[in-house]
Amino acid sequence: MADLSGDSSGLHRIVTDLTTAARPRYQFRPGPANSRLAAAVLREGRLRPTSDLLADLFTVRPDDGRTRFLPKERLLSDDEKALAVAAFERAVRAGDMTSGPQIEQFEAALAGHLGLPEVIATSSGTHALVIALLAVGVGAGDEVIIPANSFAATENAVLAINAVPVLADVRSDFTLDPADVATRITDRTAAILPVHLYGKLADMPALADLARGHGLALVEDACQAIGVTGVGAHSDAVALSLNPFKNVGLCGKAGAVVTRGAELAARCRVLAYHGFAVGRKNVKTADFGFNARIDNTLAVIGLDLLPLAHVNGLRRTWLAQRYREALAPLAEQGMLGLPEFTSDHGWHLFAIQVLDGPSRDGLRDWLAEHARVETDVFYPVLTHRQHTPLRNTAFADVRLPVTEQLHERVLHLPLHQHLTLAEQDRTMEGLYAAFRAHR
Ligand SMILES: Cc1ncc(COP(=O)(O)O)c(C=O)c1O
Repeated sequence: MADLSGDSSGLHRIVTDLTTAARPRYQFRPGPANSRLAAAVLREGRLRPTSDLLADLFTVRPDDGRTRFLPKERLLSDDEKALAVAAFERAVRAGDMTSGPQIEQFEAALAGHLGLPEVIATSSGTHALVIALLAVGVGAGDEVIIPANSFAATENAVLAINAVPVLADVRSDFTLDPADVATRITDRTAAILPVHLYGKLADMPALADLARGHGLALVEDACQAIGVTGVGAHSDAVALSLNPFKNVGLCGKAGAVVTRGAELAARCRVLAYHGFAVGRKNVKTADFGFNARIDNTLAVIGLDLLPLAHVNGLRRTWLAQRYREALAPLAEQGMLGLPEFTSDHGWHLFAIQVLDGPSRDGLRDWLAEHARVETDVFYPVLTHRQHTPLRNTAFADVRLPVTEQLHERVLHLPLHQHLTLAEQDRTMEGLYAAFRAHR
């Protein structure tokens, strides 16, 4: 009997069993999100027949003949919207809008969900990064090694505390290359900050070895990787984002620092709220801190949305393997590079590489015009190429061959938890048509 949780490895297992028609007996670990997942996928302890399960998982909706990348009015399902509105109303009526009793409850729920002991819910993933870096002891002038292909928040968190971002190259899976990181370590390096870009876990065991060997802190930017197996297992601290565009998105800006260290967690709590001693408002114990705790209104919403996280993760994981399976012939012909279907991926974004045929931008335009499929590129400008003063100073001599090549080729296909199968079909058919048109 498989003892499963709905983290990325559990979801990978379920999808693999569905595609191979394996029907082992499953037992899910306790927890609200696992119970929801079990109710969605099991009948008498075994996986439901695939077609039956998918019919419930992917609702059919009126199709308007186009596939949008990430329609903001569909970030939440109608049921999720109703839950969120009711939760918000309860918090407002009770007057518990900024601080309030549900923050601790949400932190406990998120800790249980992640299987990690300490959660400090914050006002954003960006603030979670800043707080985590300060809490592990990064200070002014310290170097922090990061990738150059992330959202600006990664380097901004380093710069905000007057530390120095040092860019290292990535592997073909878009995450930090430990071998290249090793060459960037100096006697000023204080921390390594890998980003689990698009939801793919960086090589944490190798990065943890490096950090240990050089006495460095290791902080994970897991803002795109909530629910990915292995997050938090090797590092000092993790930053998560819970903004509405993420896999677990609340109805506003929110995030969390997650850690296995109780002392580190205590430092984060102090930093997240004006330097006040925990539980003693207006009594400072640190020189400074931020106004960076999550709002109670969002914690209340989070308590109601968190139980749906694993079912939403299953949708993403199914869509990812479906893209891979359908696009495999284009990959075999050398047209596209596809992400591996691995158990350490949360499928926040589905990134392909355009290798042959039309240019990446040509393909993007063709899909928009002829197939009515919207694609996107994350992120359009690499950190060292942003037009800021750093471009001519700290980043002037930066060369990142793999990052730069991936950046020219990468294209993101629509993948969100409420994408319909018809919308995905249109995307895949559009890709085949585009390559036929460019033969
Ligand atoms: C990789 C990465 N790091 C950091 C952040 C910052 O998170 P937030 O928007 O919650 O501040 C995001 C999300 O926007 C992100 O994708």
